[in-house]
Amino acid sequence: MNTPRFEYGRSAIEKTIKLLLSLSSPYGLTVRYAIKANPHPEIIKMMNERGVYFDASSSYEAEELLNQGIEGNKISLSSQQSPHNLEVLLNAGVLFTATSLNQLKLFLDCSNHPSVVGVRINPAFGAGHNNRTSTGGTSASFGIWHEYVDEALALAQSEQVTINRLHIHIGSGTDPALWGEVMERSLGVVEKMPDVTVLDIGGGYKIHRYGDEKEADMVEIVAMFGKKLQLFYEKTNRKIALEIEPGTYLIAHAGTLVASVDDIVDTGSGGYTFLRLNTGMNDFLRATLYGSRHLIEVVNESSITKKYVVVGHNCESGDILSPGADNPEEIETRTLKEAKIGDEVRIYDTGAYCASMRAKGYNSFPDAIEMMVE
Ligand SMILES: Cc1ncc(COP(=O)(O)O)c(C=O)c1O
Repeated sequence: MNTPRFEYGRSAIEKTIKLLLSLSSPYGLTVRYAIKANPHPEIIKMMNERGVYFDASSSYEAEELLNQGIEGNKISLSSQQSPHNLEVLLNAGVLFTATSLNQLKLFLDCSNHPSVVGVRINPAFGAGHNNRTSTGGTSASFGIWHEYVDEALALAQSEQVTINRLHIHIGSGTDPALWGEVMERSLGVVEKMPDVTVLDIGGGYKIHRYGDEKEADMVEIVAMFGKKLQLFYEKTNRKIALEIEPGTYLIAHAGTLVASVDDIVDTGSGGYTFLRLNTGMNDFLRATLYGSRHLIEVVNESSITKKYVVVGHNCESGDILSPGADNPEEIETRTLKEAKIGDEVRIYDTGAYCASMRAKGYNSFPDAIEMMVE
């Protein structure tokens, strides 16, 4: 079969959907799929048919979901970009979350705006797999800074609009041990917002891709969220419904990028042997961008192993598929089966932020195809 290709396993997707939909929170739990992770139409269809709702990170993503037949009221839009079609999205029933004071004004200026709106707040706390994926704290431009909550409330009130949803997303690949603190801080913000009835605590649930990375235990995390929401109710008499919006957790494990060895070169006895694949940053940018490490396997019958640096075929020295841990500036050797040109190579856990986040068109390479498999 042709390479490079992304294969997305239906049964793996079923498994994560089933797990997340089996969870509950005392005052309701909505699971949203952050489609930026992978907007493949078959995946969106699967999520929708099983009862998962959606998080859109741009007005174009929201539009795409509507085009694919998703009902507007199942879509929540919170985008860095000022939406280009806000009135249309509001007419369709899309829930809007303003991520800046200017976006809140844009919403209030829409003649068809509903009487309720959400806001995304930066709670002065961010944590991702590394700094590139943290979206909270003073060095992140995401959300309304927490000290401006009163300003947001006053602005909404000036137009008789109620802020009923609070959105907080502190990063991607957050250390599982931090979720208690994230909920505490989020509830601290909820306390300052008297009409909030829904807390969307974002995505960012870490998965294990390589080495000693620790996968989030969603059963444990959501149970802990539930306990804290219950305590919040006992303290304030406010019942807060919970929303989570994972991308990675729902889809990353289900994807495999299947490529072939295009060439093998080395830099002599003091250097490295490079396994060059017929894919790279034009299909799979995460390694270059984040220093993200994925399990790589050479598929052949060899019982001999060899150390390789795995690289892509783009004309870029940064097109490294086996970077140092969280450091795209470094290279890492991987012990793999001895390979020959033409061998198939599988890069695992590439269902999220790979096909959707490639350096598309670079060197005029065609995109790796995407296909559903069982
Ligand atoms: C607002 C928002 N929600 C959800 C997600 C999904 O994050 P993840 O794929 O890490 O679960 C992201 C990703 O950056 C995001 O920005």
